[in-house]
Amino acid sequence: MPRPADALAVGPGSPLRGTLRAPGDKSISHRAALLGAIAAGTTRVDGFLRAEDCLSTLRCLRQLGVAIEEEPPDRLLIHGGALREPEEILDVGNSGTTIRLLAGILAGQPFHSVLTGDASIRRRPMDRIAEPLRRMGAGVSGRAGGRLAPLSIDGGRLRAISHTTPVPSAQVKSAVLLAGLFADGETEVREPSQSRDHTERMLGVFGVPVARAGLAVRLRGPARLRGAALTVPGDLSSAAYFLVAAALVPGSCLTVEDVGLNPTRTGVLDVLRMMGADLEVHEVRERAGEPLGTITVRASRLHGAVVGGDLVPRTIDELPVVAVAACLAEGETVIRDAAELRVKESDRIAALARELGRLGARVEARPDGLAIAGSGRLRGGRVASGGDHRIAMALAVAGLCADGPVVIDDPACVRTSFPEFEATLRRVTRA
Ligand code: S3P
Repeated sequence: MPRPADALAVGPGSPLRGTLRAPGDKSISHRAALLGAIAAGTTRVDGFLRAEDCLSTLRCLRQLGVAIEEEPPDRLLIHGGALREPEEILDVGNSGTTIRLLAGILAGQPFHSVLTGDASIRRRPMDRIAEPLRRMGAGVSGRAGGRLAPLSIDGGRLRAISHTTPVPSAQVKSAVLLAGLFADGETEVREPSQSRDHTERMLGVFGVPVARAGLAVRLRGPARLRGAALTVPGDLSSAAYFLVAAALVPGSCLTVEDVGLNPTRTGVLDVLRMMGADLEVHEVRERAGEPLGTITVRASRLHGAVVGGDLVPRTIDELPVVAVAACLAEGETVIRDAAELRVKESDRIAALARELGRLGARVEARPDGLAIAGSGRLRGGRVASGGDHRIAMALAVAGLCADGPVVIDDPACVRTSFPEFEATLRRVTRA
């Protein structure tokens, strides 16, 4: 199919078959680099995700004086220790995890730093980290009364706090915990429902225990991290595009190996099962404090489901592709309690309603989610990613299942988390 250079065309066609290995987990890759940078000694990371977001973390850490060796294809050797004041502004690109977690670390450093990012980052709420970090004693200012990046941080020795987050957010929880490493006493974070816990697990691997009691986590500072060796599992969020596509395209049978199965991330598997998908999880094991395993999915008929409550933080980044599945399922799907989707890389509620609507779907945008009248079909058409990698990849899945080709404008953003996405898609569909 002819295709303009700046568009990705995905057509309906062959079933998805074979085996794939998802790229390294993005959340875990960021954390491995950040913790390695502040740990004493050398940290070895295998399976690091070499996608734009995680490369932004490496670039910022190098500006902070950290020596990082990159050994192809995906090994890092990080020579950690003390950070030094950066000469230049730190640019996180599109990465919310980089700006929020790094802000937590910088709040505890005896120097001044400035963090900024692309247009999407400069729109996203930063008061959720700025407020607790100020309470810990850091100077944090930014645009719009300190709510937006660029953020300017004057760090130093901090005091421990107890912080209750109004929404479940692993980035906020992690920012406060990382600042807590540089605070005197016990830092506590409480959240309304459980967000991903990679930071807590990985701090244990680096020799800093994090206690959990219900929805509260605590650590004692000041704490010293010891360099560690770890291997990053495959990213379930990246695998999800292929799992959903295989569940939808008749005749598919696809296996994804070595993929992360942390229970704070596996909501998409629960949602797919609720919708009637044929999924099998096997070879489950644990590595560097994180569960992983193999998933096999076979195509079946899907039906609508209600996705809300505690399931939402466990599925948050997969909700765009769940919305695509909902259009192709029979019956209504409601996604609720998901207002956080409005402040991701883009307003994902608005983007999904608009772009899936262009493919003939009946999608109603609600303040906290979407109501989707599944009709079992989508038509081809021209859509736009809006610069949001997860919207681009969800729309590509729509293209595999639609009646005609879907052409996605501005697809380069997939490099944020999954540079090999298109090649992987072509391979498993043999297109
Ligand atoms: C992430 C946490 C989530 C998620 C994001 C990655 C992380 O964001 O949506 O893609 O690595 O901690 P919030 O903390 O804003 O919920």
